[in-house]
Amino acid sequence: MATSLLHQRQKPPSDPHQISPRSASSFSTFNLRQRTASLFGRAGLLLALLPLLLLLFLLLSSSSPPQQQPFSASRWRDYTLADAASFAANGTGTVIVCAVSQPYLPFLANWLIGVSRQRHQDKVLVIAEDYATLYAVNRRWPGHAVLVPPAPDAQSAHKFGSQGFFNFTSRRPRHLLNILELGYSVMYNDVDMVWLGDPFQYLKEKHDVYFTDDMTAVKPLDHPHSLPPPGKKGRTYICSCMIYLRPTNGAKLVMKKWIEELTAQPWSKKAKANDQPAFNWALNKTAGQVDLYLLPQAAFPSGGLYFKNETWVKETKGMHVIIHNNYITGFEKKIKRFQEYGLWFVDDHSDDSPLGKIV
Ligand SMILES: *[C@@H]1O[C@H](CO)[C@@H](O)[C@H](O)[C@H]1NC(C)=O
Ligand SMILES: *[C@@H]1O[C@H](CO)[C@@H](O)[C@H](O)[C@H]1NC(C)=O
Ligand SMILES: *[C@@H]1O[C@H](CO)[C@@H](O)[C@H](O)[C@H]1NC(C)=O
Ligand SMILES: *[C@@H]1O[C@H](CO)[C@@H](O)[C@H](O)[C@H]1NC(C)=O
Repeated sequence: MATSLLHQRQKPPSDPHQISPRSASSFSTFNLRQRTASLFGRAGLLLALLPLLLLLFLLLSSSSPPQQQPFSASRWRDYTLADAASFAANGTGTVIVCAVSQPYLPFLANWLIGVSRQRHQDKVLVIAEDYATLYAVNRRWPGHAVLVPPAPDAQSAHKFGSQGFFNFTSRRPRHLLNILELGYSVMYNDVDMVWLGDPFQYLKEKHDVYFTDDMTAVKPLDHPHSLPPPGKKGRTYICSCMIYLRPTNGAKLVMKKWIEELTAQPWSKKAKANDQPAFNWALNKTAGQVDLYLLPQAAFPSGGLYFKNETWVKETKGMHVIIHNNYITGFEKKIKRFQEYGLWFVDDHSDDSPLGKIV
């Protein structure tokens, strides 16, 4: 399922510089120097005050935490998607993106451990949905998070039908389209997933768009890789949670259609928080023109299958590549379920991830 936009309401700090403890302490140090200079004429007083000044300096330096390199909030505010994609791709031509707001940081950390174990972490680009996330990631892992302004919070005030609302609902396909237009292949993942294997072994052929089925019914191991037939609602249940796109006209067409479908959809509370039906209509309408590829169920099962059918899990042991913790709602429940299945890595294995203990 799509990550809920309802959680993406983190306000940016009113003064982004307050995020840096360094600026506060250097300001005080400056004041102190000024005072020291004015005291210089009165040598006697200076001598008397010298121990006090030394003590002040010591206190100031110990209250400012040690930092390997200065953290610049403004540097990351001006960091563009083009800069970030180029940095993450680093000559490989591929980026792995996720979109994360602050409440999802524990899931980001957990997901990144699985990605790192498959040695694909360097390609990861976190699209931060708020400034707190942008700074939290780039402070520990410089360059791997970008915020495409305006942050969703600034837009949520806009009414349905407005440009602002259009921007809000269509952020994900627009980010993906922008990355394709920059010439990169891009994998999108929701962060309530875990990697147990390397998905790139399934992405070697030259299809335009790769995706997974969100249905829970068991399919034969040799199921077809074409778009499945529509279900009860007249459409398919392809997951917008894991998508791999190559920078082809076909993949760009699907993203454009997705954006179009999002704007055409009648508004409802449910639809607002879920862009998956629109993605399915986009696939339905472009199927004749685009090379679509359904990934194998045994490697990419939905949560409704993996966490609910023990028999199937045993039967397909060793084949699982990415597990999606969906068909359940709520942060606590998702974490508990991951813990029960031994898929919550952050408590004991945060060293495996470049973010370390972010939460
Ligand atoms: C970029 O790729 C080079 C090798 O091609 C590697 O040595 C370097 O560590 C990579 N940089 C990052 C930031 O991943
Ligand atoms: C919507 O997005 C477009 C293109 O990114 C931008 O030019 C425009 O200012 C945005 N409008 C609003 C109201 O957010
Ligand atoms: C698209 O959806 C319609 C309506 O459910 C269906 O009749 C048609 O077969 C679908 N096309 C494809 C390619 O799945
Ligand atoms: C669970 O998996 C088994 C083995 O693949 C399958 O035969 C069975 O129909 C599945 N049960 C449900 C409820 O889907």
